[in-house]
Amino acid sequence: MDVTREQWSGKLGFILAASGSAVGLGNLWKFPYITWNNEGGAFVLVYLLCIAVIGVPVMMSEILIGRRSKKSPASAFAALGNPRWSFVGWLGVVAGLVILAFYSVIAGWSLRSFVQCVEWSVNGYKAPAPEAFGEFLRDGTAQIALGALFLGATAAIVGRGISGGIERATRVLMPVLFAIMIYLVINVMLLDGFAEALAFLFRPDFSKLTGHSVLEALGHAFFTLSLGMGGMLAYGSYLQKKDDIPRISLTVAALDTLIALVACVIMFGIIFTVPSLRATMEQARATGEGVSSVGMLFVTLPDLFYTKMPGGALVGPLFYVLVAFAALSSTISLLEVVVASVAERVGITRWRATLVATALVFVPSVACALSLGASEGLSTLRLFGGLESLNHIVAGGKTGALSIFDHVAANWLLPLGGLGLTVYAGWVMRREDTAEELFGEAGA
Ligand code: TRP
Repeated sequence: MDVTREQWSGKLGFILAASGSAVGLGNLWKFPYITWNNEGGAFVLVYLLCIAVIGVPVMMSEILIGRRSKKSPASAFAALGNPRWSFVGWLGVVAGLVILAFYSVIAGWSLRSFVQCVEWSVNGYKAPAPEAFGEFLRDGTAQIALGALFLGATAAIVGRGISGGIERATRVLMPVLFAIMIYLVINVMLLDGFAEALAFLFRPDFSKLTGHSVLEALGHAFFTLSLGMGGMLAYGSYLQKKDDIPRISLTVAALDTLIALVACVIMFGIIFTVPSLRATMEQARATGEGVSSVGMLFVTLPDLFYTKMPGGALVGPLFYVLVAFAALSSTISLLEVVVASVAERVGITRWRATLVATALVFVPSVACALSLGASEGLSTLRLFGGLESLNHIVAGGKTGALSIFDHVAANWLLPLGGLGLTVYAGWVMRREDTAEELFGEAGA
């Protein structure tokens, strides 16, 4: 149908879109909270190794398959002459739906924090009661509505076709997010807890490392770089021939890692400075009661904004708007994989495919929204009800629809998809073709 496929306007356009996809709630919300739960240092080190040794090569594979085939994940393999590999693309479509379902609910939390900050900035700050966040999570209507709002916004953008819109938005918003985070770090450097935060993050204590934390570090490396489900493949299909894939991959991975670490420094700096916060967080980790660690991004920062730094009344609301946009540029890439695949394979228009995909995500996303306390059954759900050991292996002992979705997608579906993609790029594709994509004409 599309004879002249859309293209990014040059290398910068792709880097922006790819980092827009990579940088998101994975960096700002998930990484700090799982780093907290896995007790810092050693977990961080394993995560960094996973990014460098596994993440970067997988990213190169995805982008090169995309650029060579110029197709969506579900049709790329057939276009390159190996239709039997299409299951890897479809696995990605499934992973995309699963991630989108819970991701849009978390993204909704940023909208609530934004409204809350506006109110504080106007009427003065009142430290929220410790249970306030948990109450918000148990409010099923709010959870469904905010998640749906987010899905709707994503659908509206993806339905229009991606390259123009995403590029323009990320070109402005990513640099503003960086700038704000730098300003926050500077302020955190002045707090008492700063040194302890650095030690927590960068001084590994290997006695804290478990098999499970290694799996979680690996899964998160895939999640945060948007790998393993064809997201980078889809974006790579719009990449121009002359751009240098290894260098682009390194840039995106470095940027994403930097943001994740900075987010941790900011949050742990505050937590180690405020004794009451620290006590709640430590208790949450010890009891496995997740609300305050899961809500870290949303409960720790207001304290910094409104009691510990100049200009917080302006920075607070702006920060959560940027979190929402960072999440949006990620949900766009998730939905894009599903929509491009369905549109190309089923032969329907982009708009129709968007409607179908959004309707498909909506149902599980309601389940996730209600699994934070609103519905007892969904909140205590176990993946394999009676089979505890199986439940432990696959779902990491997680309960509740949202955590199970997150865990299964990030730690199982994405690494498996990534394995498929790299085996394909490394062993199934002709070596000359792979080399030509990676290193230019030299390999041809
Ligand atoms: N990387 C994003 C984040 O860290 C989430 C994301 C966007 C993603 N697209 C993806 C994860 C594709 C896996 C696959 O927030």
